[in-house]
Amino acid sequence: MSTTPFRHKQALFPRPCPAIKGLCYGGDYSPQQWPESVWREDMRLMREAGVNLVSIAIFAWAKLEPVPGRYDFGWLDRLMALLAGSGIKADLATATASPPAWMARLFPDSLATDGEGRIYSPGSRQHYSPFSPHYRRHAAALTRQLARRYHRHLALAMWHVNNEYACHVSEDHGRHATREFRRWLKKKYRTIGALNAAWGTAFWSQHYSVWEEICTPRHVPTFGNPTQQLDFKRFMSDSILALYVAEAAILRRESPGIPVTTNFMGFFKPIDQWRWARELDFSSWDSYPDPLLGSRARESAAAGHDLTRSLISGRPWLLMEQVTSQVNWRPINPLKRPEVMRLLSMQAVARGSDGAMFFPWRASRAGAEKFHGAMVPHVGGQAASRVWREVCALGADFRKLASVSGSLIQARAAIVLSWDAWWAVELKSKPAQFDYPAWLQEFHAWFLRRNIAVDFLPPDADCSGYRLIVAPALYLLAEKDARSLTHWVQTGGTLVATYFTGVVDEYDHIVIGGYPAYLREALGLWVEEWDPLPENTLQAVRFGRRGRQVPASHWADLIHLEGARPLAFFSRDFYAGRPAVTEHSYGSDKAFYLATKMGGDGLTILLDLACAHAGVAPVGQTPDGVEVTERAHANGVRYFYLLNHNVTPAIVPLAARSGVDLLTGRRHSGRFRLGPNGVVVLRLNP
Ligand code: GAL
Repeated sequence: MSTTPFRHKQALFPRPCPAIKGLCYGGDYSPQQWPESVWREDMRLMREAGVNLVSIAIFAWAKLEPVPGRYDFGWLDRLMALLAGSGIKADLATATASPPAWMARLFPDSLATDGEGRIYSPGSRQHYSPFSPHYRRHAAALTRQLARRYHRHLALAMWHVNNEYACHVSEDHGRHATREFRRWLKKKYRTIGALNAAWGTAFWSQHYSVWEEICTPRHVPTFGNPTQQLDFKRFMSDSILALYVAEAAILRRESPGIPVTTNFMGFFKPIDQWRWARELDFSSWDSYPDPLLGSRARESAAAGHDLTRSLISGRPWLLMEQVTSQVNWRPINPLKRPEVMRLLSMQAVARGSDGAMFFPWRASRAGAEKFHGAMVPHVGGQAASRVWREVCALGADFRKLASVSGSLIQARAAIVLSWDAWWAVELKSKPAQFDYPAWLQEFHAWFLRRNIAVDFLPPDADCSGYRLIVAPALYLLAEKDARSLTHWVQTGGTLVATYFTGVVDEYDHIVIGGYPAYLREALGLWVEEWDPLPENTLQAVRFGRRGRQVPASHWADLIHLEGARPLAFFSRDFYAGRPAVTEHSYGSDKAFYLATKMGGDGLTILLDLACAHAGVAPVGQTPDGVEVTERAHANGVRYFYLLNHNVTPAIVPLAARSGVDLLTGRRHSGRFRLGPNGVVVLRLNP
């Protein structure tokens, strides 16, 4: 039932963790921070909480290889045995996220360099250069040792490669990086002439005569060359991916049959997750929505969940990290309110995760994260602790949801997310600044509020499984991708494109002759000029000549129609009366265009129209703040999730649905009351 929009190199596992029946539950466990006497207590508490999976050894390289080439696996052997004896599985890390201090001492060029030539020091984490031959050699050796030693271990459930790649250091400008960048460019362009053409170096006297003149984009007086910057982003994403691929290859060779993954960070700019996802056995991410964002927090978490699911064509994924109570790394870190941890964990499962994991299991005594909330707080696992009580209750709830594991979500609507477009549109020297993921998430939040299942898609996806595709600010769009999108509309798909789409090709060169270039035919219009709207500018859009008026912001495209029909018009300034929203019948379907930014009501008018035309319907109708999703097994068993994000009760209509709440055993049909922060998971009657 799931669509396969693009090709994965890896055989995807049907569930993230075949070793666990049911949902995964647990957290990052760093016993190396504690005397072994505490470990037994940890096992007891894990069993009490219903923990069945822990991520271990993520930051344990220094403990595993205290001296170069001399490994100490004794403690890990004891830990793995303890876990196996306690019936708890290990998400075993390759431990390569933070090299030991000896690496920097013996190999100073293993340290990364930033764009201003400053070298990172050890003493924090992730300070290594992805291009350092020493780092790579030692990381590979450690991975091999771990794989050979534990591949048959009863406790081993999955491999966790490195950790949050590029989280802190996403660029390197050192000697090795520069050499590798030149090599990458040579492979891509073959001749220096082709590079000069692609980078547009005729501009500002930037012409290169030999490869040795080319540098990574470092500290420069004013705007750097955009294509150089874009290529550098591609190069960094590819190069860091190469680290993952090298470790994953070792694991697959030495430890066949065990799923291999790494944890992503949702809408994280430095890593083109579409390219990465092809190399994963399943996807996972770490979700830390800012509680101060109010309802935006759950919206941004939902967007990350849907992205992570989309990366592996809708297969079940895993929420690898979140916090029980509060993080320690924002300027101010309020607590998650009672029951919110449960609600957000259930939200992840409702959107396709086969479990929920936390960082960390036990709150540290020392180090930079000692004020980070944990499953076991500083006071220990005591009934008097709110967090501990909630942790145990969630574990018990998850046991009741075991049958949900492996079920899928089916979306007929999708939002195009292109890392190339993201990188390019946010480079400087544009008509206005862009926040690309925020614009995408505006659309995603609309689908979320409407209870419509939605995926994300790469720009080169096979769209055939979808009825409606939204392409917000697809500024950089390769000709072949535009052509296949056009063909998809022609043969029966509804497209919604927005301003600043189809402007440049993959080299960030303008496609001459009228934007949106290759999409011009499908959209039935061309854009002559654009007027960025400074904040507080009054602009508005009126639907129909006399219809509803809604505020518009950020941008106004001045459009010429070439077959499209105007649905709404700008209200103010010299372009008052010019089209702001259009619709074009093309082939057997329609393409809509939004020439400005509209929030709430404006977006609702447009997207309701598009959804109605595409035949994309909500999963259910609910009051504001009540999220519903459906997961289903291939055999037809369906689960209906209802999540009340309000602090007040909500009356929820089930329409024709009825079923048993797996959490309480209660039967529900018709309308019922869902308490504040309440969750119901109905196994639907057939
Ligand atoms: C993640 C990271 C963890 C921990 C956590 C704190 O980014 O993977 O190691 O630092 O954040 O919230």
